[in-house]
Amino acid sequence: MKLLAHILGLCLALALALADMQGHAADILDRCQGLEMDAVAVNELGIPYFFKGDHLFKGFHGKAELSNGSFAELDDHHHLGHVDAAFRMHYEDNAADHDHMFFFLDTKVFSYYQHKLEDGYPKNISEVFPGIPDHLDAAVECPKPECEEDSVIFFKGDDIYHYNVRTKAVDKKEFKSMPNCTSAFRFMEHFYCFHGHMFSKFDPKTGEVHGKYPKEARDYFMRCSKFSDDSDHVERERCSRVHLDAATSDHAGNMYAFRDHHFLRKDEGNDTLTADTIESAFKELHSEVDAVFSYDDHLYMIKEEHLYVYKVGENHTLVDGYPKPVKEELGIEGHIDVAFMCGDGGDGPHIAHFIKGDHIYDVDMKASPRVASNERPIALFKNVDTAMCGPAGLKVIVGNHFYHFESVMLFVASKALPEQHKVSLELFGCDH
Ligand SMILES: *[C@@H]1O[C@H](CO)[C@@H](O)[C@H](O)[C@H]1NC(C)=O
Ligand SMILES: *[C@@H]1O[C@H](CO)[C@@H](O)[C@H](O)[C@H]1NC(C)=O
Ligand SMILES: *[C@@H]1O[C@H](CO)[C@@H](O)[C@H](O)[C@H]1NC(C)=O
Ligand SMILES: *[C@@H]1O[C@H](CO)[C@@H](O)[C@H](O)[C@H]1NC(C)=O
Ligand SMILES: *[C@@H]1O[C@H](CO)[C@@H](O)[C@H](O)[C@H]1NC(C)=O
Repeated sequence: MKLLAHILGLCLALALALADMQGHAADILDRCQGLEMDAVAVNELGIPYFFKGDHLFKGFHGKAELSNGSFAELDDHHHLGHVDAAFRMHYEDNAADHDHMFFFLDTKVFSYYQHKLEDGYPKNISEVFPGIPDHLDAAVECPKPECEEDSVIFFKGDDIYHYNVRTKAVDKKEFKSMPNCTSAFRFMEHFYCFHGHMFSKFDPKTGEVHGKYPKEARDYFMRCSKFSDDSDHVERERCSRVHLDAATSDHAGNMYAFRDHHFLRKDEGNDTLTADTIESAFKELHSEVDAVFSYDDHLYMIKEEHLYVYKVGENHTLVDGYPKPVKEELGIEGHIDVAFMCGDGGDGPHIAHFIKGDHIYDVDMKASPRVASNERPIALFKNVDTAMCGPAGLKVIVGNHFYHFESVMLFVASKALPEQHKVSLELFGCDH
């Protein structure tokens, strides 16, 4: 994955360099600089797309790419250079344009399905959404029951329009406590209004903003290593929507969750979460671990092709001789995405599990040399961010959700997705 990202990064750099040579504006957009996005929408897989000028940021990290690379026709008819508003149509029942992405440019609306422009588009906004003005600021879908009817909410200045997708009725509202939105999106059943590089969460029915808002968008929706000066690290790491790199819980019940340069820690018998930089507690690792598991009062931490073993204590100390190559220490080659051990989860207390892509491997930690064995495909997931195991079973974390399995065997063999749990809410107690 890292290598691929690297290659893509190089390609992008090359493309940008070429664009520059052709005399196009190639100011390299950096989302960690606090950009005001023009439009935000999630795609059909739930991945957010942030639009800025003629560029697009996919997901919560990574570089900008040209929007017309993904949506070719966006600049054919207009050379406007930016998208005013975007949303993904979402219905309770599967109507014809369920999961279509709509983009608003000036007076026109574009409808895409799986990145293909639908026949007849672009159309005038007034033709498709009668009663909705041109030159919009933001738009967001609002399916039932989050809105009373399947709706789209449009924003222009301080005017708000609830558009009923079935009856085409328009209900103009006033959202008094909300700032003018420059973009808006729905993510994990919550509604966010972005204004500048800040955001507020709002109630889509009333426009009310509850809680401490606005907040800094970079802290929650971007993977940036530098944050605003007043960023509260614990609050941010608990509530961030950016995927975790690794997580583990040890025998004593202490939990660690790693993301980029920071980690969260929850001690057994103490629900207080603390956040710190990886640099300060695991100096040699610096940042961005790939996988972590707990074994025998040590944290086994994998970063690229090296294994770091830390003794857990008041201060974590790197065991002499580490880091060592993963291949020599664990008998596994290639990039490891996930590592975990279940202790007495029925598979013997010394078996560690490793996931690469959609395959899982076992390693007997008592064996010498250690070798990867028992390779098998995982039916349910194409990729997993992290997993942790304890007396209560296995938690498998994918993006913003986690799934609970009673054993590794059930996880591997399962064909149906179990109940979905929210990482920020149910693991870290962030209720917004
Ligand atoms: C995409 O946009 C860029 C810059 O706006 C332009 O140089 C390029 O020709 C466009 N590519 C396509 C395929 O339209
Ligand atoms: C779209 O709007 C333009 C400009 O107002 C108008 O000339 C054109 O007839 C409209 N097209 C349709 C199909 O309504
Ligand atoms: C919000 O938009 C209205 C126009 O609809 C404008 O008068 C007002 O100044 C805007 N408020 C801010 C804070 O930009
Ligand atoms: C919980 O842990 C934190 C951080 O280690 C500590 O500051 C706090 O005093 C602990 N609280 C209790 C009740 O033990
Ligand atoms: C842990 O580190 C702190 C700060 O460097 C130091 O004051 C303390 O003595 C250390 N504790 C142990 C048990 O080494």
